[in-house]
Amino acid sequence: MLRSKSASVSADLILGRRILALGASLRALADGPLAGAAFEMGSASSLENLPPGAVDLVLIDADAWDAPALAACVKALSALRAAPPVLMLGESLPAGLVRNLLRLESADILEAPYTPEDLKAAVLALLAEAQPVAAAPSESASRCWGVTGAVGGAGATTIAIEIAHALAVQGGKDKSVCLVDLNLADGAAAAYLGCAPTTRLADFGHAADRIDAAMLQAFVTPVSKGLDLMAGVRDPTAFDAVGRDAVLRMLEVACEVYEYVILDLPRHRRSWTLDALSGCDEVLVISELTVPALLAARAYSDEIEDGLSTGLRPRIVLNRLASRMFGPAPSMTEAEKALQRKAEAGVSSDWEAAAASANLGGPIAQHRPKSKIVKDVQTLVERLAAQPPRRDASAKAA
Ligand SMILES: Nc1ncnc2c1ncn2[C@@H]1O[C@H](COP(=O)(O)OP(=O)(O)O)[C@@H](O)[C@H]1O
Ligand SMILES: [Mg+2]
Repeated sequence: MLRSKSASVSADLILGRRILALGASLRALADGPLAGAAFEMGSASSLENLPPGAVDLVLIDADAWDAPALAACVKALSALRAAPPVLMLGESLPAGLVRNLLRLESADILEAPYTPEDLKAAVLALLAEAQPVAAAPSESASRCWGVTGAVGGAGATTIAIEIAHALAVQGGKDKSVCLVDLNLADGAAAAYLGCAPTTRLADFGHAADRIDAAMLQAFVTPVSKGLDLMAGVRDPTAFDAVGRDAVLRMLEVACEVYEYVILDLPRHRRSWTLDALSGCDEVLVISELTVPALLAARAYSDEIEDGLSTGLRPRIVLNRLASRMFGPAPSMTEAEKALQRKAEAGVSSDWEAAAASANLGGPIAQHRPKSKIVKDVQTLVERLAAQPPRRDASAKAA
């Protein structure tokens, strides 16, 4: 998380930084001296209860607001537990206001007229001196669950979304859960949730160590109060373009920031798969109730278990259980015989609810709260959440 102050990395320092701009005239900077930053336009109320790490810098155009509004901004900033750096720009800045502003941990003023270079230099100085954001929950308090399908279409993405949503509702807090779609090339989680994917991990190239809590916030898409999604924009080359270090660093930081991190993992093993799995407290292999899927689930679970050698045993979840089967489907007992292990849980089939929610964009629990899928996932989540975190257990055993 060390940030160099050398000028040669100035472009790098601005790339992806989340800047909250107060004052319409500032929008133009996003295409000018501050190009590459993630600009967000806000108002005085955006500063109230701004979570630590939510933005990297606040820019305020003092000429856009009257004195009471500016005073309210500074007051809101000083009330924050960890205020981001602030740069105030303007023609005639009131002395009282400036004094209060400069009492903040990291703040600067720039009086007009100033050049684009002046502005950029002031922004860079503030970003460079910014302290790394204190992660809210400690690392050991976070839980990471991996979800992966035994065969394509088994329902891994669907169940990962429902689990993440259920945990976010249960947590009741802002930003408690992050769903990470690790299907880097063509993940579907964003489409299922009806939101736009924003992560471009490939941009990090070999600078994975630059990923920190603040940067992570610039790459997640808020889904609901408690749930953020990290999903890449569609990119057929992503699996080759994104380095192992970037994926693992991103997961590490996510686990520092969020209480729960839910991974939607691709079935095919990548250079980072086993590392990602070994950081999980739980791994769920989603299968259907067909013989090929059950055989694949068994082989896949064995592969994960052997590959990890940490004692982690994936749990198999049988998805799309129908109350009345069409055709000769195996029974649960037959399924467990084929699996040679017990299935952890079953999730009922409800095509209407699954399709409607995917089409409307959002969790099934939101669009079809009465669906059996929701109830079954809730039961599974409660059971898993009641387990002690595995990494803590292994730490104690060591
Ligand atoms: N329990 C379920 N009942 C009915 N349809 C489901 C269920 N789970 C998933 N589906 C549907 O199955 C299809 C594949 O699901 P998806 O989650 O994309 O699978 P995967 O991620 O394993 O490829 C989707 O159309 C989804 O809506
Ligand atoms: Mg999927």
